[in-house]
Amino acid sequence: AETDKGVYPYYMLKEVDEQAIVTRTLSQYYFDDENNIQNIDANIIDAMKAADRLYIVAAGTSYHAGLVGKRYFEQWAKIPTEVHISSEFAYDQPMLSQKPFFIFLSQSGETADSREVLDNITKQGYPTLTIANVMNSTLTREADFALPLLAGPEIAVASTKAYTAQISVEAILAHAIGHSGLNLKLELAKVAVEMQVIIDQKEDFKAIAESALSGQRSAFYIGRGLDAAVAVEAALKLKEISYVQTEGFAAGELKHGTISLIEEGTPVFALLTQAKTAGLVRGEIAQVAARGANTIVIATKELAKTGDAYILPEVNELLMPLLEVIPAQLIAYYATLDRGLDVDRPRNLAKSVTVQ
Ligand code: G6P
Repeated sequence: AETDKGVYPYYMLKEVDEQAIVTRTLSQYYFDDENNIQNIDANIIDAMKAADRLYIVAAGTSYHAGLVGKRYFEQWAKIPTEVHISSEFAYDQPMLSQKPFFIFLSQSGETADSREVLDNITKQGYPTLTIANVMNSTLTREADFALPLLAGPEIAVASTKAYTAQISVEAILAHAIGHSGLNLKLELAKVAVEMQVIIDQKEDFKAIAESALSGQRSAFYIGRGLDAAVAVEAALKLKEISYVQTEGFAAGELKHGTISLIEEGTPVFALLTQAKTAGLVRGEIAQVAARGANTIVIATKELAKTGDAYILPEVNELLMPLLEVIPAQLIAYYATLDRGLDVDRPRNLAKSVTVQ
């Protein structure tokens, strides 16, 4: 059955492995043979085009997928986009624009914090769309519109394939509203191929996890722009299952305080996929290294330097989050195994949080 672990020791590893297939499935589901969008209700497109601002509301990893999606909606669809944590938005609603449109991102479709916001927004009469993995869930039923993530059941508490599926669907939706300037169907097929390349190099991440993290109590992920957005998700993956206290940080902000935490040997993972800021991030890597950090650089081929820990295959720069998160998922997985912990069921956490 779809919910069997099969040959896998943990669901998380199975779900990390499924990401290439899910990406390919999405590119085939949302595009027809002529590369035109299909399976997105024209009313969704019309309602979004009529909006003057998008509000993405989500929790946890889904919130992190929203941070990435914001770039697609702003750069491709040209609609200003805000991303909000649902538990905050529910009781501290920001001032809204004249014509807001709400997007709820969720794996389960049952997160109580997000449901609370959907209730509030529905009462205020604004249009709503839920993008979720579990269709027929509360959030998909109660929103005006719904789109599926098609990732298949996600069982491990640490979300992996739902995150990359959310990013893909956000990209497809932004492309459908505006102009990505890409043959996005083809680009996503390329992403799927390169995802598989990374997935097949698991041993590299096992070695990185063991050498960089064994015996460490804290770590950092840094990057700028889209890499900063992925850094917070990468940090969440590592901390939630391995219990290594990890912060994801906008690299340029480190010097304003947090750099004082760097000690001899502190692991600092740097994500380097964005050409515009690569030089600055290299400087920030040098600054933490000068204070004793063990820097582990994950960079695209174009931006790589000798000594980097892992070279990422390249796709369109805006789609790099779909690739660069995979090393972080696998580093988290192997660091957790190395500590003898249960990867799929970290302490104190639930797969879906249905209470506020
Ligand atoms: C829980 C899970 C997370 C998930 C978050 C949001 O905290 O452990 O993995 O990201 O809920 O869940 P959702 O189903 O709304 O995406």
